[in-house]
Amino acid sequence: MKVTVITAPNIALIKYWGKENEELFIPINSSLSVTLDSKDMSTTTTLSFNETNEDILILNGKQCPLAKRMTNILSWFRGETKETRPILINTQNSFPTAAGLASSSSSYSAFVIALFLLLNPTHPPTLSIEELSFLSTISRQGSGSSCRSMFGGCVEWEKGSSSDSRSSKAVQICTSAALSDLEILVCVVSSAAKSIGSTEGMQKTANDPSLRTLRETNVPPRLEKAKLSILSKDFASLAQITMDECTEFLHCCSTTIPPNGYLSPISTQIIQAVNDFNTINKNLLVFYTFDAGPNAILFTRTGDLLSFLDYFLRKPITNSSTKRTSVQTKDP
Ligand code: DP6
Repeated sequence: MKVTVITAPNIALIKYWGKENEELFIPINSSLSVTLDSKDMSTTTTLSFNETNEDILILNGKQCPLAKRMTNILSWFRGETKETRPILINTQNSFPTAAGLASSSSSYSAFVIALFLLLNPTHPPTLSIEELSFLSTISRQGSGSSCRSMFGGCVEWEKGSSSDSRSSKAVQICTSAALSDLEILVCVVSSAAKSIGSTEGMQKTANDPSLRTLRETNVPPRLEKAKLSILSKDFASLAQITMDECTEFLHCCSTTIPPNGYLSPISTQIIQAVNDFNTINKNLLVFYTFDAGPNAILFTRTGDLLSFLDYFLRKPITNSSTKRTSVQTKDP
């Protein structure tokens, strides 16, 4: 038996950047994201029982050691199902891995859904909202942000509490259909793996008392406003909130000791181009965010896409390539 699952990465508008409980992956704040369209960027994971006597991971065509987080998830499922056969995990990303493009979010969500289906062979291929929500509590223990890729559209990872680990889970705020006029441009400035991974980077922020207090204070009201902006389709408000959040996130990375600067000079040029375009148009028609890397993720509405691209692609930004993608139209 073989199971193949395709999921898409999600891009956080309101970031998860620090854990309150490292062991249980309880974040210091709730976060909010949009899941990309899996036609454009995705992880495809195929699981089958392995003929040899150990679990094997093939990542992007190359055999790799299994991460501790993967073996923990496998052990948890084995404990639940009493299935002991070794598993072959074959996973392929259609975009750069570990380059600050949220590859771990689609990787772990695909892995956990595939594992659930492989070990529950009589289950139909479609999962209920409750099942996906439950699997998000397992997936977040592989990579926190992956819990939000359980759903399409706009998704909140509710922080929950350490006393009830199941309460820290993903909840869909609106479907991808409700975001049908939102366009997302992924500007690949560099596809190299980032030098400081998210886990380590966020630890430095969470261990700095003033940065941690900043996040604990500012994120909850900002997240509520972002949700309202999405639900009321107030693009300009969402733009301002997301860029404010991104500025604070980058500040929390670059002011740790030692500093953790994720942007490159090209990233800064892209920010400038977005600001210039909005200034010329006297309106927030495009906004940006970054994950833990130099690659910019830009958001605009379908009606403004061509005029922005016309402006943006004429700008003399050196050495960057842009890949256009749009938000997910189907849930994974
Ligand atoms: C900047 O989910 O990769 O993308 O839970 O330690 O695996 P771990 O971290 P990870 O961090 C994601 C950080 C981020 C922000 C976000 O997606 O919310």
